[in-house]
Amino acid sequence: MKDAQPKSIYLKDYKRPDFLIEKTELHFTLDPSETLVQSRLEIRRNPEANTPAASLVLHGQELELISLSIDGHALSSAGYDVGPEALTISTVPDEFVFEAVVKINPEGNTSLEGLYKSRTMYCTQCEAEGFRKITYYLDRPDVMSEFLTTIEASESDFPVLLSNGNLIASGEADSGKHFATWHDPFKKPAYLFALVAGTLDYVEDTFTTQSGRDITLRIFVESKDIDKCDHAMRSLKNAMRWDEEVYGLEYDLDIFMIVAVDDFNMGAMENKGLNIFNTSCVLAKPETTTDAGFQRVESVVAHEYFHNWSGNRVTCRDWFQLSLKEGFTVFRDSQFSADMNSQTVKRVEDVSVLRTLQFAEDGGPMAHPVRPPSFIEISNFYTLTVYEKGSEVVGMIHTLLGAENFRTGSDLYFSRHDGEAATIEDFVAAMEEASGRDLAQFTRWYSQAGTPRVVASDTYNEDSGTYTLTLAQSCPTTPEAKAEEKLPFHIPIAMGLLGDAGNLPIQLQGQPADPDTDDNTNIVLELTEPEQTFVFEGVTEKPTPVLLRGFSAPVKLHYDYSREQLTAIMSRDSDGFSRWDACQKLAVAVLEDVMQAYRGDQAYRVDPLLVAAYRAILIDTSLDKAMVALMLQLPTEAYLSEIATEIDVEAIHFARQYVRKHLAAALSAQLEAVYQASNEVVPFSVSASAIASRSLKNTVLSYLICTDTDENLQLAQQQLANATNMTDELSGLTAIINSELATDAQRKTALDEFYQRWSAEALVVNQWLVAQANVAREGGLERVMDLIQHEAFDIKNPNKVRSVIGAFCSGNPVNFHRQDGAGYEFLADQILVLNKLNPQIASRLLTPLTKWRKYDKGRQTLMCNALQRVLAEPALSKDVYEVVSKSLK
Ligand code: PHE
Ligand code: ZN
Repeated sequence: MKDAQPKSIYLKDYKRPDFLIEKTELHFTLDPSETLVQSRLEIRRNPEANTPAASLVLHGQELELISLSIDGHALSSAGYDVGPEALTISTVPDEFVFEAVVKINPEGNTSLEGLYKSRTMYCTQCEAEGFRKITYYLDRPDVMSEFLTTIEASESDFPVLLSNGNLIASGEADSGKHFATWHDPFKKPAYLFALVAGTLDYVEDTFTTQSGRDITLRIFVESKDIDKCDHAMRSLKNAMRWDEEVYGLEYDLDIFMIVAVDDFNMGAMENKGLNIFNTSCVLAKPETTTDAGFQRVESVVAHEYFHNWSGNRVTCRDWFQLSLKEGFTVFRDSQFSADMNSQTVKRVEDVSVLRTLQFAEDGGPMAHPVRPPSFIEISNFYTLTVYEKGSEVVGMIHTLLGAENFRTGSDLYFSRHDGEAATIEDFVAAMEEASGRDLAQFTRWYSQAGTPRVVASDTYNEDSGTYTLTLAQSCPTTPEAKAEEKLPFHIPIAMGLLGDAGNLPIQLQGQPADPDTDDNTNIVLELTEPEQTFVFEGVTEKPTPVLLRGFSAPVKLHYDYSREQLTAIMSRDSDGFSRWDACQKLAVAVLEDVMQAYRGDQAYRVDPLLVAAYRAILIDTSLDKAMVALMLQLPTEAYLSEIATEIDVEAIHFARQYVRKHLAAALSAQLEAVYQASNEVVPFSVSASAIASRSLKNTVLSYLICTDTDENLQLAQQQLANATNMTDELSGLTAIINSELATDAQRKTALDEFYQRWSAEALVVNQWLVAQANVAREGGLERVMDLIQHEAFDIKNPNKVRSVIGAFCSGNPVNFHRQDGAGYEFLADQILVLNKLNPQIASRLLTPLTKWRKYDKGRQTLMCNALQRVLAEPALSKDVYEVVSKSLK
C-alpha cells in the first residue's frame, strides 16, 4: 500500500547487484497463521558491482522478523534497520553467512503472492516479486542461487511436501511432524522458487529423452480431480518431444511436477521442476471441459514446460526484459499448438486476440513498448503487449531469417547464455550472428510502443505489364513518444498477387528470380523507410494485392479494397489466413453500413455479397470445417470497438444483431442442413477434425437461434439435454439464455438444471457464470449483481471474479456501458473491495475503464468519475494506483 506517491523504476537506472547469493537454504515449519521461515544464505560481494562498498539491502515485505545473524553472530537491533520493504545492514564482510528467522501468515494472505493457502493446500507464487513476502532476500532475477529447501508439517494434514529439484531426504522430524528436503542443482532466481504442501493425489508417467534419460512426470491434484489429468499429461509429453525435435532442447532434472491449485492470479507458473497451475489450465475431461478448454490446457502446459529453457535455464536480467522469456515462449507455444492442430486456425485465433485486445492496449493510456522503459508495479506489465506482441516480434525475426537461421540463432542464444540472466539485446545479437543479418532497425519493435499503420496504394500499367505498390508507414502517439518522434519500423510484409484464375507469379523489378523456390507466388517485402515503392514485372492482368499474408507483422494495414476484391481473396487466395481476413473485412464493411443507417435513421440493408459469400462457404463441403466456422463468425463487438474512432456502443450492438438475424433468415435452409449433417453421434475425441466439426455445428446453432422459428429453440434444448460433452452442452445453454424465442421461465429452468447438475464442479460453474454475465439482453447489470450474491461466487477466488465481473465488464458492452453509468459504478465498487484483498486482480479489472477516451462525452465523464472515485481511496495499492493515475493523465 502506498504511503506517499509510489515511484517509477527505470530501465536506464539498472545496476548490477552489489551482492550475490551462492547458496540458499530454507526451512519452513508450516502453520496456517504462523509459518516459520528459517533461511541460511551464503552471500558474497559481487566483484562486478557498480557500488563496491554498498551496505547489504535485502527485500522483505509483510515479514515478522524473529532473529538475524551474520557468520553465526546474532545482530542486535542497532546493527540493522527494518523498513516496510527492506532490511538494511550497513556493514558486512565481503563474504559471509546470513541467517534469519521470520514469521509469515499464509492464511491471511489474500494477495495470492508469496506463500498462501488455497482451499486445503499451501502453495507459493513468487514471480515477479513475491519471494520477498517469504523471507529477506535479493529478490531480483539477476541474483541466481542454488536452493536447498526443507518443509516440515503435520503428516496427516500435509502428506505431500514438494519443492524444486530432486527429493534428497524425508522422514520424521524431531517435532514429530514429517519433513522433506529438496535440492535444486540449477542456479535460479528467487522468482522460480516454489513450495507446495497438502493432501494431493497424483498421476504419474515417464518420458524418455532423446539422450535416453527417463524422466518421472507427475501431476498433483485434489483427489476429486484425478480423472481430469490425462489431457495435460499427454500435452506435456508432446511438448517435451516437440522441444527436442524443433529446438533441440531436452529436459534436465529427473522429475517434472505440475500442481493444480484453485486460487491463482494467472494461468500458470514455470517454477523450476514444479510448475503450479490454475486448475482451469490443467484439468480437462470431455464431460466438464469445452474444446477451447482442452486447447488452453495443451498450450499452457506446453508454455510452462518450454520456459524450462526460455526463462529458467536462460532467465531475464531484470523485469524490463520480461518479453525475453514471455514473448519467445508464447512464440514457441504457438508454433507447438499449430503443429499439433491446424496452422491456419491457430493463426486466426492468435491474430484475433492480438488485433482486438493488444491493439486496444497499444492505443490506450497504458500503451508501452514490448520492453517497457519504466514501471511502478511490475505486475501491471504482464500484458498482451509483452506476451502477444512480444511473440509477434519473435515471429517477425523468424520470417526475416527463415526457419533454419532462426534455429541456429536460438541454439547460439541457449548455449551462450545457459545459466545466465540475459537481455533482449543478447537474444537479438545471437539471431544477428547466426544469420548475418543486421537487426539494428528491427529492435525499434522493442522500444517503440503503438501499432504502426501501413497504407498501401497501387497502379497497374497494362502496356508494360508492371504493377507498382507503394507502402507508407506511420505510428500514432503513445505515452512514451509523439507520432513525429517515432522512427520507421522494419516491417516484413508477406504478400502475393491475385488474378482472375488464382495467384500470379511474382517478379520484383531489379531482383533475379529465385531458382531455389518452387513457390513464386509469395514474397516478403521489407518496409524500412517511411515510404517505399515496389515494382512487379510481367504482371499480365490487373491484380488484387493480398497483403500481410499470415499476418506477417503486427500492423494496421489499409488498402482500399472493393467488396468484389475481398470476395475474390476470400474464395481464391492460397493463404488461409488472408481468406479469413478478407471475409472479416467484408463483414466489417457490411456492419458499418448498418451502423450508419442506425445513426441516420435510414432503412437497413445487408449487402447481398456477404449473404452470397456465406452461402458459398456453407455449401462447399471441401472446406475445413474449423475455417468455415471462423469465417461465419462476424467480427466481435470488441473488435468493432477497437477499429472505431469513437465507439458507438448501441450502434455496434444493433448492427451485429441485425446482420446476424438477416443472415440467419436468408440462409436458414443451408444452416439447418449443416447443423443436421454435423450433429451425428460419433465417439468423442479432441482431434482437430472433431473439434472443427463441433465448432461449425455450434456456430450454426448460434445463427439458428436468431430466427423466429420455435423448432430452433427446441434444437438448442435437445442439444443441451442430449449433450455428451461440455462444448455441446454449454453451446446449448448459451443459445437458450440468449434467445428471444425462449421465455424467462425456460431460460431459468435451463440455468437451474445446469447448476444442479454441475454445482460440485468449480470449473463448470465458472463457465455457467461467464455464460450469464455475457447475456446481452436488457438487465445485465442487475443479473450480475445477483450473481455476486450467489453461493457459487467468491470474491477471494480470481477465477470467480474473472468469470463474473471480468466477463461482464469486457464481454457485455451494451450492459456494462449503460448510459446512466451504473456499470462503471459497479466496477469501481468491486475494484475498491479487491484493492484490499488482491491488488493484482483489482488492477487487471480496471482495463475497460481505462479506455474512456474512445467513448462519447457523456460516457467519458461517467467513466472518469468512476476512476476518480477509485483514485480517491486513501490506501490504494501500487498496482491500482499506477493504472488509474496513468489512465487519467
Ligand atoms: N510466468 C507465468 C507465465 O507465463 C505467468 C505468471 C506471472 C504467473 C506472474 C504468475 C505470476 O507463464
Ligand atoms: Zn510465460
